[in-house]
Amino acid sequence: MGKKVTVVGAGFYGSTTAQRLAEYDIFDTVVLTDIIDGKPAGLALDMNQSRPIEGFETKVVGVTTGTNGEGYEAIEGSDVVVVTAGLPRKPGMSRMDLLEVNAKIVRQVAENIAKYAPNAVVIVVSNPVDEMTALAQLATQFPKNRVFGQAGVLDTARFTNSIAETLAVPVKSVKALTLGSHGDTMVPVPSRCTVDGKPLSDLLPAEKIEELVVRTRNGGAEVVALLKTGSAYYAPSAAAARMAKAVVEDSGAVLPVCAWVDGEYGISGVYLGVEAQIGAEGIKKVVEDKLTDTELAGLKEAAEAVRAKQADVANL
Ligand code: LAC
Repeated sequence: MGKKVTVVGAGFYGSTTAQRLAEYDIFDTVVLTDIIDGKPAGLALDMNQSRPIEGFETKVVGVTTGTNGEGYEAIEGSDVVVVTAGLPRKPGMSRMDLLEVNAKIVRQVAENIAKYAPNAVVIVVSNPVDEMTALAQLATQFPKNRVFGQAGVLDTARFTNSIAETLAVPVKSVKALTLGSHGDTMVPVPSRCTVDGKPLSDLLPAEKIEELVVRTRNGGAEVVALLKTGSAYYAPSAAAARMAKAVVEDSGAVLPVCAWVDGEYGISGVYLGVEAQIGAEGIKKVVEDKLTDTELAGLKEAAEAVRAKQADVANL
């Protein structure tokens, strides 16, 4: 049967994600929804009109949804639903400042996903993503492997780009990794970074690596400060679209994502940025690898920070 993906939220993040998914040309249908009347339909029409030029056959369908679930029947049969709904931050805001306002939105969206697309894999990108992922799982009551969040693919891409620019090498020469939260307790993992197979620590002094780590942690804020009116979407949408692709292709790709951790790294019972194998059922398994003592301590610190906040979302 033809594959179907839904993107909830037709802001810049959502619409760019829908465009990337459509241009992959691996889906029958990309559904784009929003609460704004006409906006998703207009964007969908515009994307469909690009098909003869870009050469893809996927149909984009734009649907306006109502507060009582009106319009959600359009998502029926989706293999994957990407949740981008919610507000982005403005300069000076942390992702955590969005917790209450986005929790209300994500809970309502998740309940409608559970009702209309009960077999979908759900990829959450709304911020603060570690908490919104936990909330989406609670509100859908889907198995934990079928709900996960986007952050590590994006943060890793930012780290990779900075390393490539610093060393003036192609991005494809660089392998990098970030784990932990999508916030202050993000854990870029220099010990897992290589350039053409050489350890990063052989190529850059420790202070420079630390500078790149800090820049990665502030990667989203750096873009927000420049844009002034919203947050990043080109790299974020690329990350979300790749994850949805890994699901529908049942690829088994190992990607850093916000996944339910149950014993790995000595951490349990929390949604946290770790590497995981992605397939048709969502998370096939969390992949545990070697970390330095400092990196492992950072990951445990991140786990406790997000655990405290994730406990709060049950009441939001
Ligand atoms: C960022 C937002 C999308 O990191 O979380 O750009």
